[in-house]
Amino acid sequence: MKKGLTIVLCLVLVFSFAACAQKEKATIAEIKVGVSMPTTSLQRWNQDGDNIKKQLEEAGYTVDLQYAGDNEIPLQIQQIEDMIADGCKILIVAAIDANQLSGPMTAAKEAGIPVISYDRLIMGTNAVSYYATFDNTKVGNLQGQAIVDALDLENQAGPFHIELFTGDLADNNVNFFFGGAMDVLQPYIDSGVLVVPSEQTTTALCATENWNTEKSQERMEALIASQGYGPNGKKLDAILSSNDSVANGITNALVAAGYTEKNFPVLTGQDCDITSVKNMIAGTQTMSVFKDTRILAEQTVKMVKAILEGEEVPVNDTTTYNNGTGIIPTFLCEPVPGNASNYKELLIESGYYTEEQLG
Ligand code: GAL
Repeated sequence: MKKGLTIVLCLVLVFSFAACAQKEKATIAEIKVGVSMPTTSLQRWNQDGDNIKKQLEEAGYTVDLQYAGDNEIPLQIQQIEDMIADGCKILIVAAIDANQLSGPMTAAKEAGIPVISYDRLIMGTNAVSYYATFDNTKVGNLQGQAIVDALDLENQAGPFHIELFTGDLADNNVNFFFGGAMDVLQPYIDSGVLVVPSEQTTTALCATENWNTEKSQERMEALIASQGYGPNGKKLDAILSSNDSVANGITNALVAAGYTEKNFPVLTGQDCDITSVKNMIAGTQTMSVFKDTRILAEQTVKMVKAILEGEEVPVNDTTTYNNGTGIIPTFLCEPVPGNASNYKELLIESGYYTEEQLG
C-alpha cells in the first residue's frame, strides 16, 4: 500500500516537473530576440546570422533576424525601430556605421530593452549593455606577425616594400585591426627594414569604404600605376589587408598585373571566407584570420540568457572597449591564424566548411 502511494507521488512529481519544463519552454518561446545584421554581401555575416538564429531557437527563443540589404544605414535604423515596436525583449546588433545608431539605441533604452553590440562596437550611446566580439587587436597582431614571419624580417636587412589596406572608417574594429598590425610592423618601418613606397600609412588613407572588394581593387590598381609595381617592375613584397573582402580586391588587381602564385607578394586577410581559403590553397593569399562565428554566436546566446534570467553575464574584458560613454563589458573570443598548412584541421575537420565547398 505504502509502496503504491510512493509510486503515485513520484509520478505526480515527474508529471509536474514535465509540465513546468513545458511551461518554461512556452514562456521562453514568447520572448522575441531581435538580431540586426549589416549586410548579406559578405559571407561572414550570413554565417553569423544563421548561427545566432539557430542557437537562439535551440534555446527556445523566437528570433527576428534582419539584414540591412547591402550596408544600407537607413534600413538598419528602420529594422531596429521595427524590432522595438514589435516587442523584442533584447537586441543583438552588428552596426554598419558605429556612429549612426544613437536614435534607435535611445529608443531601445527608453523601452527598457538591453542591447548587445555584436562583433562591432556601437559608439556614442549609453544604451549598449554588453559587447561580444573577437580580440580585435590580436587579429591585427596576427596579420602583422604573419608578414614579419613570411619575410623573415628578424634576420633580413631589407628594405622590403609594403602597402597597407584596412576597412571602413565607420567600423570601430578598424582602429584595432590596423592598430594591432601596426604595433607589430611599425618598428620595422622605423628601422627601414620595411618601406611603404606610397607613404600612405594613416588609417584614413588606407581605408576601404564598406570593406568593398571593388574599392580595394581600385586602390591597388592605382598603387600599381603610380608606383610601377609589377612582376617585371618595382618589387612589392607584402600587403597588409585587414580582411578577406579587401584582400580579394587586391588579389584581383595583382593577378591582372601579371602576378602568379610563384611571385605573389605576402598578403594577409581575415574571416577565412571561401574565396580567400581557395586563394590560400592556390598560393596567392598568404594567411587569413579564422574567427569561428559559431563560437561568437554561442557566447552571445549565453549573454542573452544571462541578461534575461537576471544572472551574472559572462565577460572577460572590462578595460579595452570604451564607446565614448564608458567601458562596455565585453566577451572576447580567440582569433586563430589560418593558412594553407592548417586549413584542413581548422576549417574542414572542425565542420566549418566541407571539402567540396573549398574544392
Ligand atoms: C569587421 C569584422 C570582420 C570583417 C569586416 C567586414 O567588423 O570584424 O570580421 O568581416 O567587418 O565585414
